[in-house]
Amino acid sequence: MDVSEAIKKRRSIRKFKPDPIPEEKIRLLLESARLAPSGTNTQPWRFVVIKDNDTKKKLQEAAHNQRHIGRAPVIIVCCADLKAFKEFPERVDELIESGALPERTREVFIPYLKKGMDTVTKDALMVAAAANVAIAVEHIVLQAVEIGLGTCWVRWYEDNKVKEILDIPEHVEVMALLPIGVPDEDPSRRPRLELDQLVNGEKYGEGYF
Ligand SMILES: Cc1cc2nc3c(=O)[nH]c(=O)nc-3n(C[C@H](O)[C@H](O)[C@H](O)COP(=O)(O)O)c2cc1C
Repeated sequence: MDVSEAIKKRRSIRKFKPDPIPEEKIRLLLESARLAPSGTNTQPWRFVVIKDNDTKKKLQEAAHNQRHIGRAPVIIVCCADLKAFKEFPERVDELIESGALPERTREVFIPYLKKGMDTVTKDALMVAAAANVAIAVEHIVLQAVEIGLGTCWVRWYEDNKVKEILDIPEHVEVMALLPIGVPDEDPSRRPRLELDQLVNGEKYGEGYF
């Protein structure tokens, strides 16, 4: 299956067969997340893999009783470690060593980032975290399609409760719950806006198509 096919085939799946997911498939999903791009290669994504039925039930309750949470054989709780954004000097060094960035980045970019980090608000960090972690989550989602698994992004949950259930520390934020399993439904394509409602040409408000 190529990427276009996976994109077209993907649906949010909310009914799962009880079949367990082999460990190598879980690993492949997590590996797909690991390879995602991120700003300054910060890689802020962190994951908690849940198989325990009691924990799933508690997460279902924290997610306003959405039943696909409790029914999934595995839930990957996708988080952002906000401390990861402070580790940019190490990340920049690695990028320079790998040849991705020129040497002079050290003198130019690191002071610029340091200044930004001294004044950054939590809200701004959360925006960066959401953008970066969303890419990793969608890697998992599309990889799952290729290996015959279904997933559903879940963002409707009580943050504090999820953190408490899973012992998630203060500096780590929950970005999504991802129930995963063999699909037990085959939904048709959900409605989407047309491209001409989404795309502007040259200036916002001017048509492209
Ligand atoms: C950021 C995000 C949050 C979502 N939160 C939930 C959720 O809490 N519960 C749920 O059942 N679906 C959730 N969804 C799934 C959407 O309802 C779904 O993507 C949308 O209706 C389009 O359907 P499709 O994914 O099958 O194409 C979420 C999707 C995204 C991307």
